[in-house]
Order: sequence, then C-alpha cells, then structure tokens
Amino acid sequence: MSRDVPPGAQDVLATATKTRELRLATVSFYSEQVLPRFIDVALGKAVVPIRRRVLEGLSGEVLEIGFGSGRNLPYLPSAVTRVLAVEPAGTAWRIASRRIGAAGIPVELIGTDGQDLAIPDASVDHVLVTWVLCTVPDVERALTEARRVLRPGGSLHFVEHGRSPHRRVADWQDRITPIWQRLFGGCHLNRPIDKLIEAGGFRLDTISTYRIGPELAGFMYEGVASKEP
Ligand SMILES: C[S@@+](CC[C@H](N)C(=O)[O-])C[C@H]1O[C@@H](n2cnc3c(N)ncnc32)[C@H](O)[C@@H]1O
Repeated sequence: MSRDVPPGAQDVLATATKTRELRLATVSFYSEQVLPRFIDVALGKAVVPIRRRVLEGLSGEVLEIGFGSGRNLPYLPSAVTRVLAVEPAGTAWRIASRRIGAAGIPVELIGTDGQDLAIPDASVDHVLVTWVLCTVPDVERALTEARRVLRPGGSLHFVEHGRSPHRRVADWQDRITPIWQRLFGGCHLNRPIDKLIEAGGFRLDTISTYRIGPELAGFMYEGVASKEP
C-alpha cells in the first residue's frame, strides 16, 4: 500500500497522524483532568441552597446518576442510608473521596453510565440527578433506566439547566449547542427537561423554573417526579 503513496505524501500522512494523536490526547486530557476540576469549582458555594432544596425528602437508598465530585453528600438528609453512585469521570471520583470519607454514609460506585444501570428493577428508594441530564448522550434511555430501578412510590429529585421557554433564546441554544458540547463534555443547552422527564414515564409532582445568570446556560428546572405506575 505504501508503494502507491506519491513521494512526500508519507511525511504529510505521518505528520497528520501525529497531529491527530496530539489533538486526541489534548481532548482527553481536557475532558478527564481539566473539566471535572472546573465543574467542581463552578458548582460550588453558589448553588448550595439549590442542593439543599433538591435533596430535601430523600431517604433510604439513593441512586445518584452523575455523582461528580460528591458535592451533594454534605446536604443529604439523615434518613438516607446508602448512596449508589454512577460516575464516568475518574478524576471527579477521586476528588469525591474526601467528601465520601466525611459523609458518614456508605457510598458505592456501581457504574459509569446512567444509560445502563447494573442494578435490579425496583431496587432504590430515590434517584438524584443534579446538572447531569444535559450531558448524558441518550437522556431518554437514562430516564427509562432511572424509572426501572425505582421502587414503587419512589421519586426522582432533579435540578437541571435546559431549554428556555423564550423562542429567541431557545433558537440561540439550538445554534450554540454543537460548539458548547465540544467545550463542556457533551453538555446540551437546549434540552426541554420537564418534557423529557414526563416522556420517561414520570409524573411531575413539583416543578419550578428560574434563571441563574444568562438564560442561555442558566434556565433551571428543579423539582420532584414520581414513577408513574
Ligand atoms: C455538570 S456535572 C454535575 C456533577 C454533580 N451531579 C454535581 O451536582 O456537582 C455532570 C456529571 O455527569 C457525569 N456524566 C456524564 N455522562 C454521564 C453518563 N452517561 N452517566 C452518568 N454520569 C454522566 C459527568 O462525568 C459529570 O460528573
């Protein structure tokens, strides 16, 4: 095959391969090392009141999809007996270890993908997602999985950013999402979180929407949804 390559082209191909490898290494360094640290800081003090509200009412065994760096742990009600965590980013999990140690609640990493949960049907009391459904590639599948593992009467507690109800902002969210996804680990700006949760077989018991900062990335959906029978 190399005999068919014109003179000089070998060098060009070799350089292109090296450039591609370097680009892939940079991308993976960014998503595995830089982004989890950035998220840990960005979702720090400012959102603590939101975390407290969303975690209110949790009890028993809680599955947290997109556990991140364990930022929710300090605000879990004392009625929670165990946390089952799902988190793909090793760096986030490592940052979480100090918080896990301090939490005084058993925390077990049970998987790395919310789209495919390795636990039985009807096995947890609550599912918790905070700023995660924007990133999971197939959000419908993740919600179907969340519903499957919830016990009857169980609920999904959530806070997510998503699609603005204002047409002009939503249009910009659609335009910017392809670039945004590249910068922020697959994050979508334009997902209609309430509709997706309902389509996943949940009934919205409480839902509030509000804005934090620019609406483009700051339109929030917060609430509790129950598993429809
Ligand atoms: C914006 S962070 C939020 C972290 C944490 N929930 C918090 O409130 O601080 C989104 C998290 O979702 C995780 N994530 C991305 N894709 C996922 C997937 N398919 N399944 C589970 N978690 C995922 C990311 O690794 C990241 O830790």
